Amino acid sequence: MAARTAVDRRPVARVATDGGVAMSDLSPAEAAVDPAAAPQVPSTARMIDHWLGGTDHFPVDVAAARAFEGAYGPCADIFRSLRGFLGRTVRHLGAAGIDSFLVFGAGVPTRGNVHEVAPAASVLYTDIDPVTIALGQRILAGADRAAYAYGDATDLSTIDPALLARYVPAWGRAPVGVVFLGLAAFLDDAALARTLDELYAAVPAGSRLAFDFDGLELAGHPEALALMGEGFHMRDPAAFPALLGRWRPTADGISPVARWRPDGPPEDVPDAFHGGVAVK
Ligand SMILES: C[S@@+](CC[C@H](N)C(=O)[O-])C[C@H]1O[C@@H](n2cnc3c(N)ncnc32)[C@H](O)[C@@H]1O
Repeated sequence: MAARTAVDRRPVARVATDGGVAMSDLSPAEAAVDPAAAPQVPSTARMIDHWLGGTDHFPVDVAAARAFEGAYGPCADIFRSLRGFLGRTVRHLGAAGIDSFLVFGAGVPTRGNVHEVAPAASVLYTDIDPVTIALGQRILAGADRAAYAYGDATDLSTIDPALLARYVPAWGRAPVGVVFLGLAAFLDDAALARTLDELYAAVPAGSRLAFDFDGLELAGHPEALALMGEGFHMRDPAAFPALLGRWRPTADGISPVARWRPDGPPEDVPDAFHGGVAVK
C-alpha cells in the first residue's frame, strides 16, 4: 500500500501532474505553498501526511493520493491505524527501557511520530528523499532531542556519524530502537534480508526493531497495484519471518497492524499492513 515515487523508484509519479487537483480544492496550508517552488514528483511519505490530515505536503502529493484512492478506495483510516501502530511500538520499546531511536524511511516527522510519542527520547529520523528531508529538518528546527538527516537504510555508512552519536546516544553502548516502517515495500527480498541483517549486526544486544510490511491486500485491487509499479513488494505474512533473519519477533508475533497490542477494539480496516517488534 505504500505508494511509489521517483525517489522511491515508484510510478505514482505518473499521476503526479494529471491528478486534477485545483488550488481551490486545497486546504489553506496547502494553498500557501508556492506552486513554482513545490516539487513536481509526489512522495508516498507526504501522501501519508495528507491522509493523516497534516499540512506538510504539496499539491502533487494530494493529486497522487487522490489518484490512488480512485483506484483503491479511501485510505485515511488505514494510515491512521498504521500511525497508531507506530505509536504503540514506540511506547512498547520505551517500556523496555529504550530511549534512543534511529528511524529509517522516516517520511514526515509529525502526526504522532516517534519524538511526539516518546518526547523524552532522542530520535534521529532518516530518509533518502531530499524534499522530505528538508521538510523534516524545518519541522524539527527547534527540537532538542530530535533531528532529521539523509540516510539510506541499505547502507548505514550514509548516516553522518556525528549525528548518530548525538541523536542516538545509546548507539554502540546500549539497546536502541530501530524504526523500520513503510520501507519494506521498497526493497526486494534479498535487499531487505541483507539490510535487516546488517542492522542486527550494528546494534547492541537487547535492541528492538519495529517493522511492518505490505501484505497481499492490493492483489485484490489490480488498478491500484498497477500504480505501484514493478518494484512494489507485497509479502505473504507467513513468508516474512524468514526475512527477519536473526531478529526474533516478540511473543506478540507478526499480525495485521491494527491487531498488534491494540489499546482497545482494533480499528475496522483492511489488513493492508502487517508488523510487529523483534529483538536482538
Ligand atoms: C511509505 S513512506 C513511509 C514514511 C513513514 N515511515 C511513515 O510510515 O509514514 C516510505 C519512505 O521511505 C523512503 N525510502 C525509500 N527507500 C529508502 C531507503 N533505501 N532508505 C531510506 N529511506 C527510503 C521514501 O523516501 C519514503 O519517505
